[in-house]
Amino acid sequence: MEKKSSNKSLGKAKDVKNDEFYTRFDDIQAELNFYKDQLKDKVIYCNCDDPAESAFTDFFKLNFDYLGIKKLICTRYQKSNLFLFADPVRKSGYRLEITAKNKDDKKPVKINLKGDGDFRSPECVEFLKEADIVITNPPFSLFREYIDQLVKHGKKFLIIGNDNAITYKEIFKLIKEDKIWCGYTRVKEFGQPDGTFKKFGNVGWYTNLDVKKRREELILYKTYKGNEKDYPKYDNYDAIEVSRLKDIPNDYNGVMGVPISFLDNHNPDQFEIINITKKVGFHLRTKIYPNQTQVDKNGRRTIVSKLNDGATIKLDTPPVGQTYYMVDGKYYIQLYARILIKIKRKNI
Ligand SMILES: C[S@@+](CC[C@H](N)C(=O)[O-])C[C@H]1O[C@@H](n2cnc3c(N)ncnc32)[C@H](O)[C@@H]1O
Repeated sequence: MEKKSSNKSLGKAKDVKNDEFYTRFDDIQAELNFYKDQLKDKVIYCNCDDPAESAFTDFFKLNFDYLGIKKLICTRYQKSNLFLFADPVRKSGYRLEITAKNKDDKKPVKINLKGDGDFRSPECVEFLKEADIVITNPPFSLFREYIDQLVKHGKKFLIIGNDNAITYKEIFKLIKEDKIWCGYTRVKEFGQPDGTFKKFGNVGWYTNLDVKKRREELILYKTYKGNEKDYPKYDNYDAIEVSRLKDIPNDYNGVMGVPISFLDNHNPDQFEIINITKKVGFHLRTKIYPNQTQVDKNGRRTIVSKLNDGATIKLDTPPVGQTYYMVDGKYYIQLYARILIKIKRKNI
């Protein structure tokens, strides 16, 4: 696969919007390395990509032959109030199509769109229908709608998204039903319109392409029996806490709460996803706490109601150096989002 020596300048748009985070060429290459065989003879559509700026466009142009792509379509969205300095072409949506015929052209022709290039517009939906695989980093703010459209059209896709999306009802349903899953790599930084880079700790790839690691079994070498104290029961969900994936006990038949990084290792033949301890799974809470006193690690006290926002563990004594909550003289800690899982079959 061909590499590019540096990332392209990201332009100098004055209007910085939250959706304007540009993917680095190296991050695209790192993930796409895993799917080479699945791209051959395929029509690839990047539907949120200004061909003049997008590293996705660059990547597929550069590797057109290597990957054996049939056709690349990129469409640029022109948001009506996003005024980009003196470049008349960039004031309307346009598309770029690369095929075997024009792949070596230095300046492939940009074709103006009728509309603004919104991925939901009828003309972009026509490109979507023509596509075999959609690959891009879509606007975070429209993520639900974006995935919904891909699923409705039965498309294969590989897209970048925030981990928080897992807690959205619509997205979690797809994960639970094994219709989408995580890719291989994480994306830690994005370019911004002013040329600077912004770091993220919670962004990765979502896909429905074949991902080999989903067929690999997690080796479970720990047991619940004899180590019950390492797996406290939640106070408000009917499940035990497993704070590290490598500690998933091989002999526990009930529901276990694991960090959301579990999804990076999920093998649907080995585990069943039951739910999540955040929003979508709130109906599974076995109790609702009255207002609590939150005590932060500096001892500052506040009255809050957030103990109901996830799984909790009841403690005999207040923890040291950690935020905790008090209700009726009892102590609790709250955990980050947990995926509730069950082992489908024992691997011992
Ligand atoms: C997170 S950025 C990523 C850009 C590019 N795909 C990349 O990875 O570098 C999302 C892009 O989608 C564009 N966008 C926002 N709303 C859109 C829409 N309704 N249809 C198509 N693109 C949209 C934004 O202007 C932004 O450039």
